[in-house]
Amino acid sequence: MPFRLFIVDDDPEYSALLQFQLRKLEDTDIQVFSRGEHAYDSLNREPDLILLDLVMPGQGGLETLRQLKINNPELTVIVISSQTVVGVALEALKLGAYDYITKGHDDTVKIRRLVEQFIERKKLSTEVELLREQLRVPHGIPGMIGESAGMGKVLRLIKKTLIGDLSVAVVGESGTGKELVAHSIHYNSPRRREPFILVNCAAIPRDLMESEFFGHEKGSFTGAHARKTGKFEQANRGTIFLDEVGELNLDLQAKLLRVLQNHEVQRVGSSETIRVDVRVICATNRDIPTLIEESKFREDLYYRLFQFPIQLPPLRERDQDALLLAKFFREDFLKRHQDVKPKAFSAATRQLILEYDWPGNVRQLKNAVERALLISDSEELIPEDLMLELTALNTSSKKTTNGLSSVEPSVDMALNAEPVDGVTLLPQHPEDICSLEDIKRTAVIQAYTVCEGNVDQTSIRLGITRSTVYRLLEKYKKEGHSF
Ligand SMILES: Nc1ncnc2c1ncn2[C@@H]1O[C@H](COP(=O)(O)OP(=O)(O)OP(=O)(O)O)[C@@H](O)[C@H]1O
Ligand SMILES: [Mg+2]
Repeated sequence: MPFRLFIVDDDPEYSALLQFQLRKLEDTDIQVFSRGEHAYDSLNREPDLILLDLVMPGQGGLETLRQLKINNPELTVIVISSQTVVGVALEALKLGAYDYITKGHDDTVKIRRLVEQFIERKKLSTEVELLREQLRVPHGIPGMIGESAGMGKVLRLIKKTLIGDLSVAVVGESGTGKELVAHSIHYNSPRRREPFILVNCAAIPRDLMESEFFGHEKGSFTGAHARKTGKFEQANRGTIFLDEVGELNLDLQAKLLRVLQNHEVQRVGSSETIRVDVRVICATNRDIPTLIEESKFREDLYYRLFQFPIQLPPLRERDQDALLLAKFFREDFLKRHQDVKPKAFSAATRQLILEYDWPGNVRQLKNAVERALLISDSEELIPEDLMLELTALNTSSKKTTNGLSSVEPSVDMALNAEPVDGVTLLPQHPEDICSLEDIKRTAVIQAYTVCEGNVDQTSIRLGITRSTVYRLLEKYKKEGHSF
């Protein structure tokens, strides 16, 4: 992150002299203001240090200092003045100034030294904070279960991402925990008290994407009734999680690249640029190199986003993790639902959990365990309670396990399943008429539920794109349907 410095002085020559003196400081972004009010109005740019002249037209230095300190008591302000009046210096220090420099012989050199020292101290305290962070995460990441070699590697990589601001790309099949990884990185990083903003790139209608990302001004297009801040601005100082990034169209890819390069966004309909300090994490289950070959994804954006790739292994390649996860989900569910009777997994169920292929990965396992606890009629959870035959899909390759999972799934099974909450069932009598919209909604919600929330499989089974599945689900959710 660059170090941000404001120079506030009504004398342009003196400001230029200071800028000249500070030009060699590395990674420092300097902005000059001729009046205290202007600097105050620009506090959203979040300066680390302000060099403030005392005698200025308008509200003057002391008043500006008072306001700045009320707004942000932590802000460091060095006061500069041509007056050597002790009373004024004392007043400035009382108001919270970090130091007081008198203009004259060697003043700009003294200021440069002070600024250098300050930057050094700030860097040091950031490093100390980072080391503390690392110590705070001794083993594993809270809420992330897994002891397999594959997950051990993932956890080690996650810890490495906590230092620095490299863009992280989480890659893996549907339901492997990509969103959980993004959460873990943000909430264990020094940015954890700042916003974590999720953007599902597949769920936003094409024509609203730019405004969703970067915001818009009132009246900038039909329907823009009020000014809106975009997701990047909302995520300022924090993390933005671009889920399903492989679904972004080329036009938005170009705009996203510009933001990543310049750290600035422009609202639709505005010429003003707004600085943003945002860490980017993205996720995808698409093969981005193939998309690049097909000219559907920009190579330069790929290198920007994939600075730190994390590949999540599918659950079937995680040794004993499936059982660990199943136990974790059982305990977690029971804790949240005290009225559900606690039950252990039978030996056959444990074996099935370990041998099954889990095409829907961790999400499918979680759903299966929670459902089993709800429907079980026996003393312990038996293999049938997991209902893997009913919810299995043609596209998944399953191992045969103690004679249970070899049942081929059929559409009949899915249709004979219990009706899903909020879904209008198709008419039972030939003379009844059902709207196409109802049929579509029924088909989508039913498929999504049968596919255990796996959007990939839902889209394959329905023969529509992933983004259409996302869009329709969002719409039905807004209409009040739960699934
Ligand atoms: N290692 C893990 N430990 C505990 N829970 C996990 C783990 N991995 C995933 N989960 C849980 O599994 C569910 C699915 O995870 P998540 O939504 O992160 O997957 P995803 O890869 O983003 O899926 P999709 O590709 O469908 O968007 C969530 O409820 C998540 O909390
Ligand atoms: Mg996800």
